[in-house]
Amino acid sequence: MAGIIRALRQWLRRPRKKNGLPHGAGAGAGAGANAESPPPGADAPAALTAAGTAALPGGGAKAAPGSGAGAAPGGKGKSAPKGAVLPLPPHIAIIMDGNGRWAKRRALPRSLGHRAGAETLKRITRHCKNIGVSYLTVYAFSTENWNRPKAEVQGIVALLADYMATFDQDPENGSIRVRYIGDISAFGEELAEGLGRIAEKTRLNADAITLTIALNYGGRAAIAAAAREAAAQAASGAMDPGELDVAGFGRLLNPDGIPDPDLLIRPGAEKRISNFLLWELAYAELWFTDVLWPDISERDIDEAIESYGKRQRRFGGLANDG
Ligand code: FPP
Repeated sequence: MAGIIRALRQWLRRPRKKNGLPHGAGAGAGAGANAESPPPGADAPAALTAAGTAALPGGGAKAAPGSGAGAAPGGKGKSAPKGAVLPLPPHIAIIMDGNGRWAKRRALPRSLGHRAGAETLKRITRHCKNIGVSYLTVYAFSTENWNRPKAEVQGIVALLADYMATFDQDPENGSIRVRYIGDISAFGEELAEGLGRIAEKTRLNADAITLTIALNYGGRAAIAAAAREAAAQAASGAMDPGELDVAGFGRLLNPDGIPDPDLLIRPGAEKRISNFLLWELAYAELWFTDVLWPDISERDIDEAIESYGKRQRRFGGLANDG
């Protein structure tokens, strides 16, 4: 019996193609899928805050654990590594840590570490897109990063300005939908408008990965903002506070309907969350490496995905076989 159930599970998890893409790899595919079922009565998980973002095509897609989609770990056309249980994570989140140490080891200013980090981001975004990851969310600037030396903050702001100015020159950007979380207005009107234009321009890119860049973002601030919104709706009579549940609060945090990250990758040897996606990472699988972000290779990402693929996600419940 156990053998039959195992075979049935494997069949259900087989990679399937949809519009020429691995199942779940397309725009608004309602990814967030994984092989495990949510515990009975669990709310669908919510995802990211959307301050300063444009709505996504297919936005509002529910991302309940167990909604099914996903390609084989290792990506398009590759077979699952031995022992893999889960399909490719539809949504990967990354804390891009280690730029400063990377620069220090080379006797360079920290801002050059961030510049190298930005190049790694381009490379890894392309790789994630190529292997069929649907959503990539990266922590580029936290609400606490304003406390860094002025020159370093200016260096990161200059990087953002460059990114904006050169965005159209990179043909790879035709296969990315860019959005932001966090309050980008803090970077000034010109930069915020330019970043907004990129989000708007890429919003409808077809066959694209959704790249969410967290800028002036803090997980606690995002939750507080959603709580303020809930209080305002309750005060105006638009919402009954007694009816507000996990799914409803999640929609306030994540009006675009981006599914929760399945896998969090943190390079740079630290093992903490650092106020990133505090709500959304509730059931994410975590993967850490000592490699510094600018040195992260495509192979490192594949290794993280392979590790994820061998895990069993239970969402607080029990494994199917008890
Ligand atoms: C953390 O490393 C990294 C940051 C605070 C900035 C990350 C920003 C980028 C990679 C650039 C993103 C660019 C664009 C265009 C989106 P750290 O400085 O804390 O490293 P350390 O721990 O070694 O000091």
